[in-house]
Amino acid sequence: MSTDRIISASRQEEDHDIEGSLRPRKFKDYIGQERIKENFSIFIEAAKKRRESLDHVLLYGPPGLGKTTLAHIIAAELGVNLKVTSGPAIERPGDLAAILTNLTAKDVLFIDEIHRLSRSVEEILYPAMEDFCLDIIIGKGPSARSLRLDLAPFTLVGATTRAGLLSSPLRDRFGVVNRLEFYTMEELAVIIRRAAGILRIPIDQVGAEELARRARGTPRVANRLLRRVRDYAQVKADNFITLDIAREALKLLDIDARGLDRTDRQLLLALVDTFSGGPVGLDTLSACISEEPETIEDVYEPYLLQIGFLSRTPRGRVATKQVYEYLGRVKYPREQDTLWEDDADV
Ligand SMILES: Nc1ncnc2c1ncn2[C@@H]1O[C@H](COP(=O)(O)OP(=O)(O)O)[C@@H](O)[C@H]1O
Ligand SMILES: [Mg+2]
Repeated sequence: MSTDRIISASRQEEDHDIEGSLRPRKFKDYIGQERIKENFSIFIEAAKKRRESLDHVLLYGPPGLGKTTLAHIIAAELGVNLKVTSGPAIERPGDLAAILTNLTAKDVLFIDEIHRLSRSVEEILYPAMEDFCLDIIIGKGPSARSLRLDLAPFTLVGATTRAGLLSSPLRDRFGVVNRLEFYTMEELAVIIRRAAGILRIPIDQVGAEELARRARGTPRVANRLLRRVRDYAQVKADNFITLDIAREALKLLDIDARGLDRTDRQLLLALVDTFSGGPVGLDTLSACISEEPETIEDVYEPYLLQIGFLSRTPRGRVATKQVYEYLGRVKYPREQDTLWEDDADV
């Protein structure tokens, strides 16, 4: 299953404790995402000067890129409390009302997976975000009346891997909307060396760069590779991670030079060999490689799209020429037919 994959960007059991210790607590330790950091530094300083709560913030992007970390840092830099919850955890409108009434002025409320809030819960959020108030219905039937309750001004930080699934009234209520980008190899090497320092794992620069190259642009994956390769180094190599040790360990883990693992290759092979390069619909692809469509969309595709191995067309997923080269296929079918132009038109 995908959750067992080493390169899976979603969180796994063992990440839990270690992520806490590796999670940067200040902007200065938060590597990369320069534009976002710069913006937030300004917004935060301005909010503090005006003694107001920070505008509501929406963070979106693939898993493992630092959304939760950023929410923690924002609260820390504002010097306020952070309350953490998630879309699926808030079942009823009353649950959210209870959370909101317990916030103190300027607190940050972090709602992870905010696209999974139910409609009825979301409706509580609209007046809360807009006017810092809660509309409560008391009683039932003809005698029911509505009561407006004031809330302390707070900042909502929402995170999602799927901004597209957010309803537009919710999306419109965020003053700041930021998309997190994949990290460069250089940034990931810095993140790996920092984590290696905290975990006391000796690693040299080229070793760190090798892991960085194969970390799919994702800090969570980078940190996980570091821990796996440490195990290998402890058993085989006197504890020290060099370029050769990194390569040997990654080979054993079946992660190739592009950072793709067996499941990625399976997906690409299905696309190229079973479906002649596509276009193929998500559900068909999902059935073919026995992975949930959501997992394919959230975890696998973003990086394959990023490195130009995949493209999305209205008729489905299509393998690019690079995939044919990567898989060592000589013939790229698209050069002979007209599908390309068709797709461009739709
Ligand atoms: N910019 C960053 N600099 C350093 N480490 C980072 C950065 N972003 C994420 N990480 C590391 O990756 C881990 C996963 O990040 P997280 O914020 O949980 O991702 P997300 O919420 O987007 O899934 C964190 O525990 C942290 O160790
Ligand atoms: Mg998160």
